[in-house]
Amino acid sequence: MGNYQFAVIRGDGIGPEIVEEGIAVLKKIGEKFGHTFSFTECLAGGAAIDATGHCLPEDTVAAAKAADAVILGAVGGPKWDNVPGNERPERALLGLREQLGLYANLRPAIIHQALSQASPIKQEIIGDSLDILIVRELTGGIYFGERGYREGKYGQEAYDTEAYSEMEVRRIAKKAFEAAMVRKKHLTSVDKANVLESSRLWRKTITQMAADYPEVTVDHLYVDNAAMQLVRDPKQFDVIVTSNMFGDILSDEASQITGSIGMLPSASLGEGSFGMYEPIHGSAPDIAGKGIANPIATILSMAMLLRYSLHLEQEACAIEEAVTQTLNAGFRTADIAAAGETALSTQEMGAKIREALS
Ligand code: IPM
Ligand code: MG
Repeated sequence: MGNYQFAVIRGDGIGPEIVEEGIAVLKKIGEKFGHTFSFTECLAGGAAIDATGHCLPEDTVAAAKAADAVILGAVGGPKWDNVPGNERPERALLGLREQLGLYANLRPAIIHQALSQASPIKQEIIGDSLDILIVRELTGGIYFGERGYREGKYGQEAYDTEAYSEMEVRRIAKKAFEAAMVRKKHLTSVDKANVLESSRLWRKTITQMAADYPEVTVDHLYVDNAAMQLVRDPKQFDVIVTSNMFGDILSDEASQITGSIGMLPSASLGEGSFGMYEPIHGSAPDIAGKGIANPIATILSMAMLLRYSLHLEQEACAIEEAVTQTLNAGFRTADIAAAGETALSTQEMGAKIREALS
């Protein structure tokens, strides 16, 4: 029985619709298990630009820091495409990750058996289950390196820099090794060490750390090969650890293997229990406001919140089981419906999952 308080950033596009369903599921969990959850609404991204002129108002950061966890929908959209780079809605997300010290991004890619038909990969390749955990470094690398414009060989050029310190590699690798220890004890580190100096330091650091985890089998793959292996034989992976940019790309690829990007949750963590929880998909402006977005990625993100920030494992499993049960019962949103299957709205899917929780 606990009292918990969350900062809620609904954001842009489909963000508000999917967060609504995530919160409704949390409230249901609160009733069922006797917890009290309270929610503080905050602005970030395009919605914050429109309301305040800034993508990440200071009081949003303060409210996030004061909360037990942050719930985030998605940010960005074509409306703000011409906003200068450092004030774009996406900057808010990067600012939150950085200012909250959330350097470790856990992105599980799990195939629900009921949806194995929705995967674009042949059934014999994915088999009847797939369970990969991508551990993405989230506050370093090219996303945060020095950038700008300068006079180059061919006139004015723009540049971004990839840099990693040993400390940054160590702390993300530690999370990945620890995750591997409670899973299948297989860690694949993805880099581009045949070309990038920062990747050579990355690989050297992981190799040194492997000695501290003798039970974990460690492989190293170049990112181009990893991208290929993910579709050639995804079952070979257990935990993947990689840089900010490679993790961004590979997690979208992995999500599609599971059938829909609308299914995958994420947790962004630092030291301690605090975290930010969001679906890995974006704001999907093309379907915003239509009530057809899949709320499952957000709902599963709430399960991760319960697990990692509140240490309520039973409650987290209850959500995951409710989602599985709902899918097994044949309920689908448009993105995961096969031809001829009825597609539920965002709200209807949320309601079905809450019913499964009762
Ligand atoms: C993600 C997104 C973000 C990222 C964007 C919106 C800045 O693609 O969380 O994967 O690149 O990290
Ligand atoms: Mg991405």
